[in-house]
Amino acid sequence: MNLDFTQFVPNIPYILQGILVTLKFVSVSAIVGFVLGTILALFKIGRVKILSWIADAYTSVFRGTPLILQLLLFYHATPQLTGYDISAFEAGVLSFGLNSAAYISEIIRAGIRAVDTGQNEAAAALGIPYRPMMKDIILPQAMKNILPALMNEFITLTKESAIVSVIGVFDIMRRSQIVAAEKFKYFEPLLIAGVIYYLLVMVLTLAGKMVERRMSRSD
Ligand code: ARG
Repeated sequence: MNLDFTQFVPNIPYILQGILVTLKFVSVSAIVGFVLGTILALFKIGRVKILSWIADAYTSVFRGTPLILQLLLFYHATPQLTGYDISAFEAGVLSFGLNSAAYISEIIRAGIRAVDTGQNEAAAALGIPYRPMMKDIILPQAMKNILPALMNEFITLTKESAIVSVIGVFDIMRRSQIVAAEKFKYFEPLLIAGVIYYLLVMVLTLAGKMVERRMSRSD
């Protein structure tokens, strides 16, 4: 066996710096996904047919094609079609945000559906209009139901974010590959990246569990 981690010790800080890049990338993408996903979910459950049709088609397309394809399309199409020289980070956030919105819209739609219809009826009986009813009564309850699923989506994004390395974002994945290429040894740096991703996911899972527990306490 020819495994030697000691020669990679000097490179570990460089790979670790990728954690910040990865987390920043995932957080910004998640925010984009959440905002757009909420809007799409409202379109889906709303009464305007054309809007719900558009939101359904959107979801179908973004879930029906590979994320890496969407990433490369945004990265290469933007300069070609608009002349704007998009950065790898921006293209990543755009594709991950738009992709995640499709998944998040389904999570939120299900969450809204799960709120007892009595809440709608009570609001209607009190003469509360649609918008304030949604904003102040239905959505807050729905958010509580869907928090675990949203946390899951965040974890998925964290793992999937490794593919932005292919367009040159200096995340954990890319950094480990750069180190590998310098040393002509791939196994150890990839293993180091794997351990980092795993620990990140474990921390996020734990954080999710804690939030869930706190939420259920108020039931
Ligand atoms: N590997 C899947 C794809 O390429 C991941 C899609 C992203 N999933 C998500 N929940 N945002 O399509």
